[in-house]
Amino acid sequence: MDIPILGFGTWQLKGQDCVDSALHALRVGYRHIDTADSYGNHLEVAQAIKSSGVKREDLFITTKVPRSLLGYDDVLLSCDRYLVELDIPYIDLLLIHWPNKDIPIEKTLEAFERLKQQEKIKEVGVSNFTIHHLEDIKSKSFKVVNNQIELHPTFNQLAIQQYCDQNNIKLTAYSPVGRGVDLELDTIRELAMKHGRTPSQIILRWIMQRGIIAIPKSSNPKHIEENFNTADFELTDEEVKLLNNIPQEERIVNPPTSEFHY
Ligand SMILES: NC(=O)c1ccc[n+]([C@@H]2O[C@H](COP(=O)([O-])OP(=O)(O)OC[C@H]3O[C@@H](n4cnc5c(N)ncnc54)[C@H](OP(=O)(O)O)[C@@H]3O)[C@@H](O)[C@H]2O)c1
Repeated sequence: MDIPILGFGTWQLKGQDCVDSALHALRVGYRHIDTADSYGNHLEVAQAIKSSGVKREDLFITTKVPRSLLGYDDVLLSCDRYLVELDIPYIDLLLIHWPNKDIPIEKTLEAFERLKQQEKIKEVGVSNFTIHHLEDIKSKSFKVVNNQIELHPTFNQLAIQQYCDQNNIKLTAYSPVGRGVDLELDTIRELAMKHGRTPSQIILRWIMQRGIIAIPKSSNPKHIEENFNTADFELTDEEVKLLNNIPQEERIVNPPTSEFHY
């Protein structure tokens, strides 16, 4: 299955709030859920999937191996645990959550490839990888299909998008609405007024029109619905350019990627 262009993010969703929010997202129509070992909510995501009645084959589940568990055996053991926690026979996309310069990337990716051969995962991806990290993977003759990175109007990632497009790596935008902060930008608000849409819908539309997957998180039912309803309008090329030209800020998610340079 191709990665659905819109997914439901679950970072910081815990306990019943996570079950209720993910279930609402599935009922609204989201078919792609983004979680991670470090979010500590696999069990709640599994509960939401079960309650939704949506068939496994209609879902796209992404999860991530933390940087402390990237050794060959740790990856294999972790994946087995995720399958039990998520109560699914396979994971659609397994990501390396953050680079770890202390563990050779080829060992990690060999383990991911083994999981693919065993049909425990469908696809291999990474997260928080810079062009430098992606070049390293390429030079070692490994292939990843996805890089999940922070991307929103004040951190537009145009350069890495160009690299990923050229190298056939799909980008996923995390923190797509800038954790709420970018919703207040004048340019966004003006476009929202013009289109009769909300600021969040304008941002998500901009991301998707760039061919990038977006995984907004919300625990507010109204926001979950609003974020899903972004397929029935278009921004013009000029509006996309206007959004691409919003002044850029620092990353908002810690730690800084410079910590991972090697
Ligand atoms: N790979 C990584 O290292 C990494 C890092 C960060 C995030 N992620 C993934 O990306 C997902 C999304 O990122 P994120 O959670 O950091 O940030 P985000 O989705 O940009 O922002 C979430 C915040 O925006 C608010 N919000 C969402 N939709 C809204 C709307 N329509 N109107 C008004 N406010 C809205 C939410 O509040 P309400 O709940 O009140 O709606 C929440 O406070 C995460 O959940 C996670 O799955 C991955």
